[in-house]
Amino acid sequence: MKVALLANLKKNAPSWPGMPPDRWDDLDSEETIEAILRALEAGGHQAIFLEGDITLFDTLRTVKPDICFNICEGHFGDGREAQVPALLEMMRIPYTGSRVLTLALALDKPMTKRVLSYHGLPTPPFQVFEREDEPLDPDLQFPLFVKPSREGTGMGVSAESIVYDQGQLRAQLRRIFERYEEPALVERFIEGREVTVGIVGNLCAPAARRIPEDEDAPRILQGLHFFPPLEVDMAAYPAEEAGVYTGRIKVEMAHEFHCLCPAPLEAEQVEELNWLAAATFRVIGCLDVARVDFRLDARDGNRPYILEVNPLPGLNPEYSDLCIEAAADGWSYPQLINRILDLAAERYGLR
Ligand SMILES: Nc1ncnc2c1ncn2[C@@H]1O[C@H](COP(=O)(O)OP(=O)(O)OP(=O)(O)O)[C@@H](O)[C@H]1O
Ligand SMILES: [Mg+2]
Repeated sequence: MKVALLANLKKNAPSWPGMPPDRWDDLDSEETIEAILRALEAGGHQAIFLEGDITLFDTLRTVKPDICFNICEGHFGDGREAQVPALLEMMRIPYTGSRVLTLALALDKPMTKRVLSYHGLPTPPFQVFEREDEPLDPDLQFPLFVKPSREGTGMGVSAESIVYDQGQLRAQLRRIFERYEEPALVERFIEGREVTVGIVGNLCAPAARRIPEDEDAPRILQGLHFFPPLEVDMAAYPAEEAGVYTGRIKVEMAHEFHCLCPAPLEAEQVEELNWLAAATFRVIGCLDVARVDFRLDARDGNRPYILEVNPLPGLNPEYSDLCIEAAADGWSYPQLINRILDLAAERYGLR
């Protein structure tokens, strides 16, 4: 097939005076783009990279791909990860991965948490702040964790995200509003291990509702493949990171990532995490691939909490969590990339 790889390269992103230095940390590097192109070619496809910006309408009309491999994070707006898929749907071009609503929803962490809570799935209690002086919900107790509501790749996440009193809370809210110009998400701080579960596949009954806990569950889940969970090895990082998977670890120290994969967990725990990841995949409406991030509450018998879902997980072959998990499962990188493509092609009846 002729496959157009759609992505937003860091080096093509706009810039302006006073732009925060981490503004484009979630965009892709040329290294990742090259690796995906080579992997698609290894799968027997003709692959071409197109920048996912406003030039895309014209380049797609010229190139006429059979399908797009979409990993665009977008540049601006509260639904920026959904913009390219929206264009593709207008142009009736097939593409890999989740669709418009899911991508816009998952980008917004508070909205995602509302959907998870509605379905009884465990996510830390939270409050959204739009102003620095809003009163704190009396049900939320310190320490709390403060992060931007619509960023990724650890943007706005540092040791200072953990706040122990009102003064620290207000200072961190101010930093987030100044830097990211969006609401801040304040959650109960979950002290404990950090685990992420990667999934490729599709549910057999993709309706966005909770997976029934009865005999129908295995049938619904059979189309999903769970990679072995990855645990971030916090002990390997300086104490200044405060046991948090920070932006600094994800960006500056990305090439020396310390993790345990498979995570040293009991089979029962893995099963529980997989079930929760699949339930999240279902209620958020994911397709083809996703990664669900958890924290295990050390104060409550390692009880898992869902932090967020990533329907566009990083695909750098060297250090992205999903690729490390796939490798630990014996999958080559081309196998991973081509599986995602094949899943989408199958959904569109291209195979
Ligand atoms: N409520 C919380 N309690 C404890 N730690 C948290 C909490 N929320 C986030 N963290 C820490 O911050 C990190 C980043 O949070 P989160 O996964 O929401 O952000 P992200 O930047 O979107 O991540 P990604 O790179 O996966 O897109 C988590 O991996 C975890 O270490
Ligand atoms: Mg995360």
